[in-house]
Amino acid sequence: MNTEIGTGQITAQPAQQAGTVTIQLTVNGTRHQINVDPRMLLIHCIRDILGLTGANIGCLTGHCGACTVMLAGQIVKSCTILAVSADGATITTVEGLARDGQLTPLQESFWAEYGFQCGYCTPGMLMAATELLRDNPDPSDDDIRRAIAGNLCRCTGYQNIIKAVKAVKVQREQVK
Ligand code: FES
Ligand code: FES
Repeated sequence: MNTEIGTGQITAQPAQQAGTVTIQLTVNGTRHQINVDPRMLLIHCIRDILGLTGANIGCLTGHCGACTVMLAGQIVKSCTILAVSADGATITTVEGLARDGQLTPLQESFWAEYGFQCGYCTPGMLMAATELLRDNPDPSDDDIRRAIAGNLCRCTGYQNIIKAVKAVKVQREQVK
């Protein structure tokens, strides 16, 4: 059961179901109180309970990066974390990057530079590159490659992904 409790104080207490644990997550600015199976992975909680299907499931073994989200400001592979371990955490998924329907410069750049083909890896790539550009506004090609090293693209579109990240850097330099 998911009780959405907005951004203010917690007002709702859902009934505890047998065998479940109640946790609280703030996802893309919205606070939720959720009953989860203690064995549930965070990616399943995000997709199946919260209905945020941007983060994808690829390998479920921590290798592909399709499930990447930001937890407490750091990218994590959400298939490697139990939902109960994230109790109380603030999470950003790919759905939380755009504001009021306005894509971020990085998202626009992926579009402009053809930084995706099938798009399956794209949410994870965007999260990894968002963290990179937040922490390093002037990344080298090697920095970009290292930042997305944990994210696999089965379409092998890496060159255009790197171009897309670099284009954001160039745009920033032009507005200086
Ligand atoms: Fe999580 Fe592949 S589904 S790393
Ligand atoms: Fe298809 Fe990366 S665009 S997996």
